[in-house]
Amino acid sequence: MKQVTVSAPGKLMLLGEHAVVYGRPCIVTTVNKRMKVQAALSDESIFKLAAEDVAINEYAKPLDRIGKDEIPPKASFVEMALRNFYLKYKTISGVCITTSGFSSDFGLGSSASVAACTVKALSCLFDINMSPKEIFDLSYQTILDVQQEGSGFDAAAAIYGGTLYYTFRGEIIEPLTINGLELVIGYSGVKTDTVSMVNLVKEKMKSYKKGVEKIFDNIAALVIEAKEALLMGNWERLGTLMDFNQSYLEDLGVSSPKLNQMISAVRLSGAYGAKLSGAGGGDCIVALVTADMRKSVELAIQGAGGETIDTGINVPGIKTEEQMK
Ligand code: PMV
Repeated sequence: MKQVTVSAPGKLMLLGEHAVVYGRPCIVTTVNKRMKVQAALSDESIFKLAAEDVAINEYAKPLDRIGKDEIPPKASFVEMALRNFYLKYKTISGVCITTSGFSSDFGLGSSASVAACTVKALSCLFDINMSPKEIFDLSYQTILDVQQEGSGFDAAAAIYGGTLYYTFRGEIIEPLTINGLELVIGYSGVKTDTVSMVNLVKEKMKSYKKGVEKIFDNIAALVIEAKEALLMGNWERLGTLMDFNQSYLEDLGVSSPKLNQMISAVRLSGAYGAKLSGAGGGDCIVALVTADMRKSVELAIQGAGGETIDTGINVPGIKTEEQMK
């Protein structure tokens, strides 16, 4: 029976979150934690899903109900990706899917990775040649179907890998060749709901559009400068720009006392710069360091009640791990 295993990395927003939802650019890198999707065609007219990473054991649905009726939230990225693929390519078959990988708790983009892996796995099973942009478009559509909001940066990271300069809906997806970027990642222990944070900024926008637009313009300007600093390896400048980005995020109201505490601690311990990463409210902070700063910055995170996440960054995007014809 035809079977394939596909993997894709998680991501970390370096600069430009929230503003990217309003048409400004952001910079995202990938982390060395991968989601895996194994998919196999089956003779039965059903879709089966086992996703131990989100405690789904034996989820099954008849093919004509895919994307309909009640969908457990944790199964929705796979199921909607399947529906979108079948609709686009006017094909259908029973399929068994198993997902595994890193915890969704850290906000490192497990859902987007799973959506992208599902699309790519199906393209292998049905022998349909999809370009990275086509995989992106279908994965992004899936994310919007599930959560209605999002810039698509997480899907782009999962698919293209490396470090990207990115704009809304994937209008620009520019890989950046970088060397020597050293980050320490600190998890706040608080899981964030991205959509609530995006809605919070939407409310801010309603209450004072001019002011929020100005903040986004300032963020856009620093992201453009940060791209150059990143390409040149000018870490001091990049750190300064990350600190400014954090101030703007605080103005938007998406930081939290815990995040601020961790950020202050890492700055005091010598990091070039630090900021929250992603939607805010919780999840992770990212600190820019050199190799010899790493230990003291990690201790600072732990001292502020955070947890360090040990992972490489700037890693390859989606790939087929194994295929049986
Ligand atoms: O919470 P995360 O890591 O998925 O990041 C969200 C980043 C936002 O800019 C707030 C939303 C988006 O989709 O770009």
